[in-house]
Order: sequence, then structure tokens, then C-alpha cells
Amino acid sequence: MTATVLTKEDQKISAGHRETPTMHACQSDARPEISLPAEKPSLLVEHLSKHFGSCCSYCNDPKAELERNICPQCGSVHAVRDVSFEVYPGEIVGVVGESGSGKSTMMQCLYFDQDASAGQIKVKPYDGGEQNILELSSQEKRRIRNTVFGMVYQNPYLGLRMNYSSLSNIAEQLIASGDRNVLNMCDRGKNLLKRVNIPDRRSIEPPKNFSGGMQQRVQIAKALSNNPPILLLDEVTTGLDLSVQANVLDLILQIRRDLKVSMLVVSHDLAVVRMLADRTVVMLDGRIIEHGLTDQILEDPQHAYTQQLVYSLL
Ligand SMILES: Nc1ncnc2c1ncn2[C@@H]1O[C@H](COP(=O)(O)OP(=O)(O)O)[C@@H](O)[C@H]1O
Ligand SMILES: [Mg+2]
Ligand SMILES: [Zn+2]
Repeated sequence: MTATVLTKEDQKISAGHRETPTMHACQSDARPEISLPAEKPSLLVEHLSKHFGSCCSYCNDPKAELERNICPQCGSVHAVRDVSFEVYPGEIVGVVGESGSGKSTMMQCLYFDQDASAGQIKVKPYDGGEQNILELSSQEKRRIRNTVFGMVYQNPYLGLRMNYSSLSNIAEQLIASGDRNVLNMCDRGKNLLKRVNIPDRRSIEPPKNFSGGMQQRVQIAKALSNNPPILLLDEVTTGLDLSVQANVLDLILQIRRDLKVSMLVVSHDLAVVRMLADRTVVMLDGRIIEHGLTDQILEDPQHAYTQQLVYSLL
């Protein structure tokens, strides 16, 4: 496959890039408020929190000072603290932050792999975005997992059955969303694998035979199988060789261009987020410390931590 990466201009055209989007008014930020687009976000996250441990009267106060993300009194871990943001249709939002900043926990709360401790999540395809999906029954949550979200985990062992063929991995996802026609599933599976550049003859091989880059591409094919309007990608290129990373990043941009899905792209690597994201949120110790247009954050980072991230790119 070609490793050509789309220019920022291509990306803007392909995504119907907005010149004046905004982040949800959530954390203090020195940037001026930007006006809200009229359309509804595909994904709205409001005041999301997730803690591990029983908490105490001290750390139940959302303004409590913690030691990084740990309560000094009871030792509970506040992995995600009062996080709010939105993703608009066809938009890629990047979440960047060092290891332990809460990115994966936040993603797992969105995909119901973890139960959130507090907050609201709304998705436009479900009830027009009116319902807090965290309050739904487990059956409805499963339906949302299978129809609204596609998930790509950092660790392909979490997202794939390594001993089943790649085609079966996709078929399993199609069955979960209600498909029962074997020929149809086979066709769709092969097309999806072709889209992520897995050769036809290898579609019957199990992912355990594949390189890391290929495994991520099978995960992406599986995540796309139900045409989900929202893709969640957690450290999708971490641990891959640079040339393989470029291939996967290129694939993600192609998918956005062709399918117009919204994406939430989590990475500890600002270079990855710079390549993909229209807007970026920066997390530190479970909180969002900065958010804005990716270009703006790169040109004029406000928070000392973001400045350090940006300067380390130079
Ligand atoms: N199951 C768990 N129990 C206790 N602490 C956890 C658990 N999962 C994650 N954490 C903690 O939550 C914080 C955020 O972790 P994580 O979401 O994996 O961060 P990131 O993806 O940004 O590296 C870390 O301090 C981590 O140790
Ligand atoms: Mg992580
Ligand atoms: Zn506490």
C-alpha cells in the first residue's frame, strides 16, 4: 500500500472541517470561547469521572487536591476527573497525555468496558443524543456497542480472537449486530479486509500469524464492520515501527475521507494526534488541562505540560 499521508488541506475538505468549532466549556483555559456549530455532536461527554477505590469525604469533593490522581487520605485512584468534550460528525478529536493520565479508562467508560463513576455520555444515533447512555440497561448498552461504536484497542489481544480466522472475527461482529446471512457476511468481511489491505488469501488465517501492524488493521476492519458512526481508537499505532505507523495513520485518514465517521483518537504521542486530529484535548492526571484546534495547540500551547509536549516534537 502507499504510505502517502493526506495533507491538512485534504483532511479539512474530506471532513467538512469547521473553521470555528469549540470544545464544551469544561476546564479553565486561557483561550477565547469559540462559537458552537449549529449541528448536534455525534458524541457528547459531560463531567465524566471514574475512580478506583471506595473514596472518602476528602476526595468526594471534585476540587480536592490529589497527589497526581491519588487521594492522599484514602488512596483511591481518580483515573478520570470531570472530563467533558464533544465530537462532531466526521470529525477526529485527539486525546493526548502521558501514560497514566486516564486516556484508556476514559475510552473504556465510553465503550462500557468500565462502569463510569459519574457523568453523562450522549450519542446522536441513540435517541437523537437526548439520553444519557450510562443509565441504560446492559442489553441496550450492548446494542450501542454493536451499532454505534467501533473500538480498536491498543492491545490487539483485547479486540480479536487470535485463534479464529480474520474473516471469522469480522463475522462474529456482524452476527452481534444482527446479520445472519453467511454469504453476505463472507462478502462483507472480504471487502473490509481488502479495505485495510489484508490480501484475500490471508483472510482465513488467524491474526496470531500476523505482524502487529496487520493485527491492528484487522481490528480496524472488525471495528468498521457494522458501519458505526463513531470509532474509538486507543493507541492504535503504539509499539509499531515508524513505517507501519505511517500506513495505519494513512488508513485512518482514508477511512475518515471515505466513510465520514467521527473518531476519538487516543495517544500518548502528540505526533500521532497532530497527524490525525482536527481538535485535541490534553489530559493530565485524569483531567482535561487544555483543548482547542490541533493547529492552535501546536502553535500556541497554554499549559506548561502542553508546552513541554509541543517542544519535545521540535
Ligand atoms: N483497574 C484499575 N484499578 C486501579 N487503578 C487503575 C485501574 N485501571 C487503571 N488504573 C489507574 O488509572 C490511571 C489511568 O490509567 P489509564 O487510563 O490506563 O491511563 P493511560 O491510558 O492514559 O495510560 C492510572 O493511574 C492507572 O494506574
Ligand atoms: Mg492507555
Ligand atoms: Zn479519598
